[in-house]
Amino acid sequence: MRSRAQFRSHPFHPMLVAFPIGLWVASFAFDVFGIWLRDSALWSAGFYAAIGGCVGAALAAVPGVIDLFSVVPPKSSAKARGFIHGGINTLVLIIFIAELAYRGAPETQPDHIAILASVVGLCLLSYSGWLGGTLVYRNQIGVDHRYAGAGIFRERTLKDWEQPVCNSSELADGQMILATIAGKRIVVGKCSEGIVAFADRCTHKGGSLADGTLIGCAVQCPWHGSQFNVNNGHVITGPAERAIATYGIQIKAGEVFVEPAKSPKKKAA
Ligand code: FES
Repeated sequence: MRSRAQFRSHPFHPMLVAFPIGLWVASFAFDVFGIWLRDSALWSAGFYAAIGGCVGAALAAVPGVIDLFSVVPPKSSAKARGFIHGGINTLVLIIFIAELAYRGAPETQPDHIAILASVVGLCLLSYSGWLGGTLVYRNQIGVDHRYAGAGIFRERTLKDWEQPVCNSSELADGQMILATIAGKRIVVGKCSEGIVAFADRCTHKGGSLADGTLIGCAVQCPWHGSQFNVNNGHVITGPAERAIATYGIQIKAGEVFVEPAKSPKKKAA
C-alpha cells in the first residue's frame, strides 16, 4: 500500500534509514580500529558517527510512524510486526544514546562496555531490519500499486454512507478503490458481474485486499494468496477459512453508493 510519507511515490522511511545504519556501523568500526591502532582520532570519529546515527534514527522514525498508523492495515500481522520493528529501533536508539552518555566525550577511549553496547545495538538493528524487509517485501507496505491505463492507486475517505465513493465510469474491469467510510475500510471494485463492495481486511492475517488482484469475481490477497468470491464473500481458496463481509451497492445517476454492512457468510464455497 502506497506510503503516505513519500515524494513522487518514493517513501522517505527507506531513504532515511540508511543514515542510522551506516553511521552506527561506522561508529563501531572506528572504535574497534581506534582501539586496535591506539588512535584517538579514530574513536573520536566513532563518537561523532554515533551521534549522527542517533539524529538519523530520530529523523527516519517520523515517516515510519506516519506509515505505521496510516498505511499498515489495522488488526493485521503487519501491524504487530510494525510495532515490534518500531519498538526495537527505539531500544537501539536508547542503547546508543546511553553509550554516548557513558563515554562522555569524543576523546574518551571506548572500553569493553561501550563496545558491547554497540554490538548489542547493531545485532538488534539487524533483526529490526529483517522485520522491516518483511514489511516491505512480503506485506508490501509502501508499494505503489497501479492499474494499467488507470493512473495511480485510488483511495477515498468518506464521513458517512450517504456520500458516493466514485462515479461508475471511474472503474474498469478488475480495478478497485479503497474507501474508508465512517472508519471502515471497504473495497469498491468492478468485476465481470458489475460493481461490488467488500471488506478490505483478509480474514487470514489482515492483508489489504485492495492491494490484491481482482480477476473475474474473485479477489486474491497479496500476502498469502487466499481468494474470495466478491459477490458473497465466500472463501474460494485458503489459507483463509472465514468469509469476508460484503456490502450492497446502489448506483444513482452514475454515482456509486455503498450500503452499510451485511453479515459475512460463514460457509466456504
Ligand atoms: S493475510 Fe494471509 S492470505 Fe490474506
